[in-house]
Amino acid sequence: MQNQEIRTFGRRHGKKLSARKVWLMDNVLPAILPKNIKKAGNLILEIGFGNGEHVRDLAHKYPDSVIVGAEPFANGVAALLSAICDEKTNEVKPEYKNIRIWPDDVRDYLRDTDSQFSQIWVLHPDPWPKARHEKRRLLSADFIKMLATHLAQHGQIIIGTDHWEYFDWICEQVKTTGLKYSTPDIETIHTRYQEKNMAETVAPKYIIIEK
Ligand SMILES: C[S@@+](CC[C@H](N)C(=O)[O-])C[C@H]1O[C@@H](n2cnc3c(N)ncnc32)[C@H](O)[C@@H]1O
Repeated sequence: MQNQEIRTFGRRHGKKLSARKVWLMDNVLPAILPKNIKKAGNLILEIGFGNGEHVRDLAHKYPDSVIVGAEPFANGVAALLSAICDEKTNEVKPEYKNIRIWPDDVRDYLRDTDSQFSQIWVLHPDPWPKARHEKRRLLSADFIKMLATHLAQHGQIIIGTDHWEYFDWICEQVKTTGLKYSTPDIETIHTRYQEKNMAETVAPKYIIIEK
């Protein structure tokens, strides 16, 4: 993370990882970093994937695309690795071979790549509800504008949050960018954080942004 950037995430580490997860972090993760993605082919990015349920859904749904997941929380990265690797061989299961993991701040990844994505997902970004933490919110106008530079032709940024105040705040940010956006009623996308529904709202709201 560059020094001038404000940290947008909470913890990097949670409870101690199991021996298997430590092994996967040391031995599998280096082989599936996104650095060697070939230019050709369809790319999809998910930012802040948590435990990675939706990254796995995307890998199933788009077997011919490469799915890049970015997450700085080591326990989340380890959880995704554990779910995509065979329990006996510890090799990545065939259906998940199209997943790449960036185990850090997505801004550091995007700064160093000219990759263009057909979809960029941000599901339940940390809402940072206290006024004094507002500057930690990831989806500022500047960040959204930077994301838009990584959209392929007809690409979409899809953001979902159950925190309705953050939703309104994001819409205000998007308005200042001049990008096209809509707030359709789409079927709830299930993730761990969505199931916790800490905002105690009726359902998540979604924003789709296009160039
Ligand atoms: C509230 S959690 C939601 C996790 C998951 N998307 C879900 O719905 O269960 C938000 C996640 O975004 C991650 N995050 C925050 N800032 C980030 C950044 N700059 N780059 C990548 N991930 C980030 C956090 O580490 C955290 O895991």
